[in-house]
Amino acid sequence: MKQTGQPISRLEGTLKVTGAARYAGEFKHEGMLYGYVVNSTIAKGKVIRIDTESAKRIPGVIEIFTHENRPSLAWFDMQYSDMDAPPGSPFRPLYDAQVSYYDQPIALVVAETFETARYAASILHVKYEEEAFHTDLKTNIGKARDPQLGMATLLKPLPPKPKGDFDQAFEEADAQISSAYWHGTEHHNPMEMHATTTFYEEGGKLTIFDKTQGTVNSMLYVCNVFGLSFGDVRVVAPYVGGAFGSGLRPQYQLFMSVMAATQLKRSVRVTLDREQMFSFGHRPPTLQRVRLGATPDGTVTALNHAALAETSQYEDYTEVVVNWSHILYPAKNTQLDYQLVPLDIHTPLDMRAPGGSTGVFAIESAMDELSYQLNMDPLELRLVNYSERDVAQDKPFSSKELRECYRQGAEKFGWSARNPEPRSMKRGHKLVGYGMATGIWECMTVPSRAEAVLSASGRIEVNSAVTDIGTGTLTVMTQIAADEFGLSTDDITFSYGDSDLPLAPIQGGSFTVSSVGSAVVKACQSLRKKLLKRAARMENFSLSQANQASIRFEKDRIVLSDDPAISVSYADLIADHNGKAIKTTKTSIPNAFKLKKYTRAAHSAAFVEVEVDEELGIVNVTRAITAVAAGKIVNPKTARSQLIGSMVWGISKALREETISDSRFGKYLNRNLAEYHLPVHADIHELDAIFVDEDDTIVNPLGSKGIGEIGIVAMAPAIANAIFHATGKRINHLPIHVEDLL
Ligand code: MOS
Repeated sequence: MKQTGQPISRLEGTLKVTGAARYAGEFKHEGMLYGYVVNSTIAKGKVIRIDTESAKRIPGVIEIFTHENRPSLAWFDMQYSDMDAPPGSPFRPLYDAQVSYYDQPIALVVAETFETARYAASILHVKYEEEAFHTDLKTNIGKARDPQLGMATLLKPLPPKPKGDFDQAFEEADAQISSAYWHGTEHHNPMEMHATTTFYEEGGKLTIFDKTQGTVNSMLYVCNVFGLSFGDVRVVAPYVGGAFGSGLRPQYQLFMSVMAATQLKRSVRVTLDREQMFSFGHRPPTLQRVRLGATPDGTVTALNHAALAETSQYEDYTEVVVNWSHILYPAKNTQLDYQLVPLDIHTPLDMRAPGGSTGVFAIESAMDELSYQLNMDPLELRLVNYSERDVAQDKPFSSKELRECYRQGAEKFGWSARNPEPRSMKRGHKLVGYGMATGIWECMTVPSRAEAVLSASGRIEVNSAVTDIGTGTLTVMTQIAADEFGLSTDDITFSYGDSDLPLAPIQGGSFTVSSVGSAVVKACQSLRKKLLKRAARMENFSLSQANQASIRFEKDRIVLSDDPAISVSYADLIADHNGKAIKTTKTSIPNAFKLKKYTRAAHSAAFVEVEVDEELGIVNVTRAITAVAAGKIVNPKTARSQLIGSMVWGISKALREETISDSRFGKYLNRNLAEYHLPVHADIHELDAIFVDEDDTIVNPLGSKGIGEIGIVAMAPAIANAIFHATGKRINHLPIHVEDLL
């Protein structure tokens, strides 16, 4: 039986739920020290003095690192950027006295225990010289400018040039929509907080347990920043307790942990606390405007989508916010704009469907508004503007089953039972609303390596440095490898999360299955060939005439399919190889020339039912269905979990999550899980995900597009649209607050 396509439970599930799985902040080493980071309490200025004397006198305090006594590092003269760095100059902890954002790390206290370090940090006396600063996007839009170009622009293209004449077409259109949208700030709050444990070993070798989405990215960062050789630094991330983009870039606790370990020649763990999770990157607040002009039958003829987002003073973080609108809706006259406002904040950071979930909220809200103006069903309006081709980039889609998403989603949801009139549906004293929205997310593939091994003990093993951030990578890669040998997942060991294993990209952008999966396929095929070649050469010649088509791999041997009595055992193959493992490593490089001829994207349609209690301003998402077309689904169970999790996050975006900033102090106020609202079980009702069949022979050999991010994209607009249907109130900002509905 084929293993891909099976709903196999997570292979590491038991380890995780029993607490046996260890995370970056849980590894212990003999004589290990603990670091606690001190963060600035001003938004901009200079550190004049850090009085460390009384803190140093506390028994158990070993050292306090500041910009004054930090080691001199090559990095501080030469600029090294990580694999996910936007254009600009990366933030360098403890570089000098300059404070560029509130909560910037300015010192590290190292002590015998975490509690001692934290207490000592609390009594450090810091004197600042403050400077004027600006942290508010809305009052600084005059500073908007075009983003700098850089490597990141390759994966995150800026908007295309205008087409046709938007102004004229909009002016002449029968129906017109012009609306502004606001998407608030969100901060990463995975369950596991960021932590790094650096084991300092004989001769200065480092084994680093880091919370990261890229072991190789962290390893290269440490080597470049600290001037260490690749052989001396190993970064390991066996388990990651959620990351969602927060671990794409090396974070400052990695720098702090390695700095202290190399200076003190001791093992050091640095763990951030929940408040510090608000100090290193966020989904940027974004102001948008969408203008749509349409004919009476609903054809969108004029489309303008403009976005303004914030970035730091030192890097230009960009997202793809507006491009999606034209890929979804093929208007003849389009104008897309995207600009940045540099502020005195830390650089924003990718967060689940970065840009897509922000921009699609605006376009899908605007489309909903247009449907009411035209007196059309919102789903019908999408179908009128449906495009089989990506008109924006003048390319065919590699595959696009969005129409099926609409059809199957609507049917399962019972969309046809909707009374189009706002405020017309009720349940008791509550208003009921149905809303829908479209989702889109790109399908990227990047180069990756994998190794396939017949181990000395006769087991098939596959290795890659890739992490599993909780998405099910271990399980899915094991399934992919198992199919290449026609074996069961029990017969394969997949090792991962270790920079010593073959090179893998950072795990993000929903490209892990397509990228690492492709390398796994190549490595397994190569090992099959290698093993058969060796078997054919063996003394008894039993497989000398065999080829890949005439054999099959069993748990412990290669057999001739037609005559299973003829076989060569793995034990014999290993014995013939002097008892050593037989290995092969392969690189998968996407065929850029072929791929660039197509637009590759996953699509979705979300259908949502809300109940609104107008007396209390409370919204409940009582039912939601997301239908997704994302090519081949390797594991329907882990994929469904990704989808349901994303839908919960969509509910969170629409109704809960928001970091509140006070621009008088330049600081975030609600830096804890009591005031940074997340949905709880009582907020989550019936959620369902449908995978629509989609055959894609172009994206990669697996035909799989990735489903990590697509599930979040359509949820927030579908909820906002359902709220309009329930109440007649069009709310164009996220999250939607209680007071918006009173
Ligand atoms: Mo991805 S932004 O790492 O969820």
